[in-house]
Amino acid sequence: MPCNCCEMENNTFGEDEAKANLKDYRRRGPAKQTKLILEAVRSLGLKQASLLDIGGGIGTIHHELLKDVASEATHVDASSAYLKIATEEAKRLRHSEQVKFIHADFTDVAADLPQADVVTLDRVVCCYPNMHELLKAASSKSRKAISMTYPREVWYIKAVIASMNFFQRLRKDPFRVFVHPIQEMEALLNSEGLQRIATRRLFVWEMALYRRAT
Ligand SMILES: C[S@@+](CC[C@H](N)C(=O)[O-])C[C@H]1O[C@@H](n2cnc3c(N)ncnc32)[C@H](O)[C@@H]1O
Repeated sequence: MPCNCCEMENNTFGEDEAKANLKDYRRRGPAKQTKLILEAVRSLGLKQASLLDIGGGIGTIHHELLKDVASEATHVDASSAYLKIATEEAKRLRHSEQVKFIHADFTDVAADLPQADVVTLDRVVCCYPNMHELLKAASSKSRKAISMTYPREVWYIKAVIASMNFFQRLRKDPFRVFVHPIQEMEALLNSEGLQRIATRRLFVWEMALYRRAT
C-alpha cells in the first residue's frame, strides 16, 4: 500500500542500497547493531515466537531469528526495494512460508495487524518524524517485548546528523534523520506497559530491550 512515507523511503532506500546490504550480510553476517538486537531477543529464551519486524530492510532479523527463536514473522517496510531483496533472501533460506511481507508505512496498517510476541525496530525510529505515533503503534502490537536501535543522543552524533540534514535540504530531498530524545521514547514505552531490561551501546547506536511487565 503506497504512502507518502513509502515514496520517500523508496527514494532513500533503493535497489542499489538493498543489494549492497545483502552482499554485506552474506559476507559478514548481521551488522554490529543488529547483532545487539539478536542477542537481546535470544536472551528472552523464547521458542516458537511470533516476530513483527518494522522497517526490517533486507530482513536480517527474521532471516536470523527464524533459525531458533521464531516460527513466524511479519515484515512491514516502506521501501519496496528492501522488501524485494528481503523476499528473495527469505525464499533462498526456505523461509517464504513463515514470513508475511507488507509494503506500507507501519503506522497506516498497524491497526489491522495481529500482535506478535516480539517487535523489532532496527535503525527505524531515526527515519521517522513522528516517533510517538510509531512507537505507540509498535508497542500496541507487542505481546512480550520490543527491541530497537536508535542513534545515541550525544553531541558528535547530533552534529553529524545536523550536517546530513543540511545537505539533504540543499539537495531538496525531503528525507531527514532524527535523533529522538531517548527519555521521551522511554516515557512513552513505560506508559504502554513496557520496562527497559537491557541497554547496549556502540559508538553510534544504542540498543534497548523492553519487556512487558507481567
Ligand atoms: C535505515 S533503514 C534500516 C533497515 C534495517 N532495519 C537495518 O537496520 O538494516 C530504515 C528502514 O525503515 C523503514 N521505515 C522507516 N519508517 C517506516 C515506517 N513508518 N513504516 C515502515 N517502514 C519504515 C525504511 O523503509 C527502511 O527500510
